[in-house]
Amino acid sequence: MYEELRKIVIPEFIFGFNSRLLIGSYAKNLGAEKVLIVTDDGIINAGWLEDIVQSLSEHEIEYIVYRDVFPNPRECDVMLGADVFETEKCNFIIAVGGGSPMDCAKGIAIVVSNGGSVLDYEGVDLVPLPGPPLICIPSTAGTSADVSQFAIVSDTMRLVKIAIISKKVVPDLSLIDPVLLTTMGDYLTACTGMDALTHAIEAYVSNASSPITDLHALESVRLIRKSLIPLYENRRDESALRDMMMASLHAGIAFSNASLGAVHAMAHSLGGIFDLAHGECNSILLEHVIHRNYPFASERYDEIGRAFGLAEPSRENLVSAISEMRKTLGIGGKIEMKIQAKDVEKLAEFALADPCMVTNPVQYDKLEIIELYERVLTL
Ligand SMILES: [Fe+2]
Repeated sequence: MYEELRKIVIPEFIFGFNSRLLIGSYAKNLGAEKVLIVTDDGIINAGWLEDIVQSLSEHEIEYIVYRDVFPNPRECDVMLGADVFETEKCNFIIAVGGGSPMDCAKGIAIVVSNGGSVLDYEGVDLVPLPGPPLICIPSTAGTSADVSQFAIVSDTMRLVKIAIISKKVVPDLSLIDPVLLTTMGDYLTACTGMDALTHAIEAYVSNASSPITDLHALESVRLIRKSLIPLYENRRDESALRDMMMASLHAGIAFSNASLGAVHAMAHSLGGIFDLAHGECNSILLEHVIHRNYPFASERYDEIGRAFGLAEPSRENLVSAISEMRKTLGIGGKIEMKIQAKDVEKLAEFALADPCMVTNPVQYDKLEIIELYERVLTL
């Protein structure tokens, strides 16, 4: 007679144009003395670091920039960042960038408080101590690491992306500023937007969804349908900038609390072995997983179809509308990389073991995952 209990974690955030400029005063209030800024060359070359360090300097906060973050951050990037944090006697972390710098920063926070390797904390709720204060400033509308309980790190020995899911990796504050989206390239806009769409859809059909996450997931789908293509076509479109940043935020709140599903489990596995862009893997897998999952959550998928603007929601109509959007965004339908059949088996094993698989509306067996991979891989 009672519904299952659901816990919702959402960090403090400030949403709006130029919210990044508040960094100095908020860092000061949270006790920053010396900050490790985790970012990458893309952000530095786009000029986004200048405002941030100026604001810190105005508040007499020291900082050191750690920019050696690879796309799909590796455990060695995290461990090196943790060394810099300790050697430089930092007491605070600011991440500026997309998923890679934010996930790397989360990993650094875990290691400097808990010791050991970041890989020791793989899994759900396995981080004992909170890290130093962390503020995130996201530069893409997709990953939502700035509000999520997830940190994804590449294990370069096992060639797999590991997921750390813990309340301890939720930032203390996020400054969510749509202005940063203006310097994204076409492909990044496309892939990160499709990643956000995947978050919203997987959260909505997740076994761990709830009325609160449902609200956010559906609003995200509606906003992405309205604004992703306009943003892809014009990164100066103010309402598309705002809508997509908001869509990503909604999707982040939804998936952080409802978790994800087979698309992410399979994308993590692919991205670990082949170092592919996360959003690209999701975009390509999404329609195939919807097709496979639909009979097990048809009403939920139809609700997504309605939010996506379909007059007659159905399995075929939803799959083709999403496929149409992917094509309009210039994303192909296949992973353009030669893969050997024996590697597909390994991919499937890693995907099966990924924590995101647990909340998929139906549990796949290894053969089904192999079949799904074979549809998108070039064998
Ligand atoms: Fe994602």
